[in-house]
Parts: sequence; C-alpha cells; structure tokens
Amino acid sequence: MSEIVSLAEKYKDYFKIGAAVNPRSIAKYGDLIKKHFNSLTCENEMKFISVQPERGVFTFDAADTVANFARENGIPMRGHTFVWHGQTPRWIFEDKDSAYEELAKHMETVGGRYADIVYAWDVVNEAANDADGGNIYRERSPWYGLFGESYLKEAFKMAKRILPAGTKLVYNDYNESNPGKRDRIIEMIRRINDEGILVDTVGMQSHWRPGSPSLDMICEAIEKYAAEGLRIHITELDVSMHEWNEAPGTVWDTPERAEEHAKYYGDIFAIFRKYKDHIDSVTLWGVTDGTSWLNGFPVRGRPDKALLFTDDGMPKEAFYRVIDF
Ligand code: XIL
Repeated sequence: MSEIVSLAEKYKDYFKIGAAVNPRSIAKYGDLIKKHFNSLTCENEMKFISVQPERGVFTFDAADTVANFARENGIPMRGHTFVWHGQTPRWIFEDKDSAYEELAKHMETVGGRYADIVYAWDVVNEAANDADGGNIYRERSPWYGLFGESYLKEAFKMAKRILPAGTKLVYNDYNESNPGKRDRIIEMIRRINDEGILVDTVGMQSHWRPGSPSLDMICEAIEKYAAEGLRIHITELDVSMHEWNEAPGTVWDTPERAEEHAKYYGDIFAIFRKYKDHIDSVTLWGVTDGTSWLNGFPVRGRPDKALLFTDDGMPKEAFYRVIDF
C-alpha cells in the first residue's frame, strides 16, 4: 500500500479530502483512513438520535470512538447534524414550548464536547422541498410542522451563538445540483441570511451516478452557490453504479459501467479542482464499496460499488482517475 499516493496529500493544495466513518470502519480500515483522508465525518454517530435518544440522556460512546481516533491522528472533523427530519427522536417534537430550548441544550452539549476537533457543523440538513413549483420548504419535516420556516433562521442563530467562533455553519442538502432544488436552496439561504450572514457554507451532498447530474449542471450549481458568497463543502460524495429506477435484475457490474463510473469520478474531481477557490472539502460517504450505505439502498438487498476502494482496501480505477492530474 505504501507506494500508492495519498489522496489527501495529492490534494493538499486544493481542499481537504474527507470520508464518512464509523467505529467499524475505523477498526477495519484505520490505516487506510489515516493515509488518505484529512477530514472525517461520523456517518451516523453524531446524529441527534445517536447522541440524545431520550431527553437528557446522552450516549457518546460511538461518537467518542470516532472523535478520539480523529484526535489521536490530528484529523479535523465535520459535525453531522443538528436539525433534520431524519434520525431525530420524537420526544423533541412532542412539546413545542421546549423544543428550541432543548435544541440549544443539545447544541451546547454535543457542540461543546467536540469543539476541539470539529471545524464545520451541518446545522440544518435537507430542509428544501424536492418538488418544483410549490413551497420551497420540506413541509413534512416535523420542524416545519412545529414552527414553519422560522426554525431555519432560529437554528442558525443558535449555532452561531453556541458554537466556537470560526466554526463553519453549513446548510446541507441532496439533489443540490438540480436547477429547481438548487434555486430553492439559494432562496432559503437568502432568507436565513437576510438580516446578516448566518449560513456561510453550503453542503452539496453529491449522491450521484455516472452522467447524473451532468458536468454542466455541477459547474452551474457551484457557480451559483459561489455567487451567493457561500463557501462550498462536498459533503457526502458517492457515485452509484446503478441507473435511477433500474429494472430489477439488470446486470450492472459490467466493465462498461465500471469505466463510466471511473470516468465520471475523474471528471467531477477535475471540476472540483477548477473551483478550488470556493471549495474547502470533498468528503466521500464511506471508505470502501462494501461498507457504503448504498449496499441495500434504495433497493433492499441490492449491492453497489460507489466508492474509490474495494473491500480489501485496494484502490479502484476510479481512484486512479481522481489522482491523475
Ligand atoms: C445515511 C447513513 O449512511 C446510513 O448508514 C443511515 O442508515 C441513514 O443515513 N443524507 C445524509 C446522511 O445527510 O446522514 C445519510 O446517511 C445519507 C443521506
């Protein structure tokens, strides 16, 4: 493995190269992670339900395992996430009168515990509507149900007050390069920032597949976000080998598709390099193909090969395209 160039080293003049990790991937691939990545995100372990499943009961073991690995190896982290409709316990939504107070306590406790190691927090995750032509907000979020759109500015105000100065405050979402959703994200951030900047960074999750979004759409999205004065984090990059709505039984693990996959990885990293002045970090959502969340999602039981390393920790063709510049 030693003759293989380090991703983070290769990109040191561009941006951080990150990975989503968990205690299992750290145990199994610790050396690989140390070698290639200079930013880490907890895949699940810092989410609300993971750290405070019941009111006032904090469970930090798994997040601490990751944070201590990061500390021991001097690798900074992204915090993920505070305000989301997913992986958030019901108890916080059951009492509107205490919800903001509980959210602030949560940010103080969790943000404080990892303040030494976390350089950016995904303060709000996935609050924009997926559908064109209606409300810009995700109406089915329980946060929206309780407070309407005001929860967004409130959450960022809280984060700005509570988190250490200099922590990047991120709005994070998927389908971020789709023009309609992109414009809703931009409008949402404008409204949050209308009395002064609270959101300073947009997180482009980047759950993509070869050719989708198109390279033009990605460039246009980056340019539009940058034109708002926002920093950009690519937060959850993976490139599925599957087509959207692929017919069941489709043979997908072919040399042709592997080539499209590798080529797309090469192309998108060329774009990231071109926009390096706006991009602070590019994080892959996992370490190896087999441990990626895309195995079994969105189609139960269906595997995928969405990342840069095989389960033996060997670099794939996509890896070589990413470092080929
Ligand atoms: C995913 C994790 O990878 C899975 O292990 C978990 O079961 C569900 O969540 N958008 C996000 C991430 O912001 O938190 C999600 O992570 C992937 C989609």
